[in-house]
Amino acid sequence: MIQSDLDLFGSQPQSLASQVMLLPGFALPEVEVLLDALRPVLRAAPFRHMQTPGGLHMAVALSNCGSLGWVSDARGYRYSPLDPLSGKPWPALPEVLLTLAARAASQAGFEGFVPDACLVNHYLPGTRLSLHQDRNEQDFSQPIVSISLGLPAVFLLGGMQRSDRPQHVPLSHGDVMVWGGEDRLRFHGVLPIKPGKHERMGERRINLTLRKAG
Ligand code: SIN
Ligand code: FE2
Repeated sequence: MIQSDLDLFGSQPQSLASQVMLLPGFALPEVEVLLDALRPVLRAAPFRHMQTPGGLHMAVALSNCGSLGWVSDARGYRYSPLDPLSGKPWPALPEVLLTLAARAASQAGFEGFVPDACLVNHYLPGTRLSLHQDRNEQDFSQPIVSISLGLPAVFLLGGMQRSDRPQHVPLSHGDVMVWGGEDRLRFHGVLPIKPGKHERMGERRINLTLRKAG
């Protein structure tokens, strides 16, 4: 029997909630092209620890590409067309990410997804991301597409209230998650990354979230 690409690169899509889909291994065939495209992005806009409105530094280091980038400082959270480090526009969103995000969104039932922002998060072992909602975007009708690379993580998929008990969703290198529609504003986060060394990515996890921010 001839195996399909899906069998070779991952298992079947899993529905985690009515409009939350996990696509195991969906990004694997594209990982090398994606990493090649990410290199110049991170040269132009290196990872940095942004300040929270409360004056602390975020544990996750981040960068962005696209016409808008997510930023945090003493004034709050928002999208900005300029990288505050360089004062220049964020690097363009690589074609490979645009097409991968549109294909993943379509698999999850969201047709015609055209992101304008990609937040790139960098986690070291021990780094966590506390429960939050993605609500700085203008248009909540558009989904979030999230690509995991490197060390495995446990994603916390919460409910609409911060106090709702979250599902624990294991994410591996190459997995893609899509959430939108009635689930667009679910609280979510990431448990502390366990120490380890990923064969391709080393001692880190990189997560890309593609958004329609403007
Ligand atoms: C995020 O919520 O911005 C990132 C989620 C993740 O790292 O999986
Ligand atoms: Fe988020």
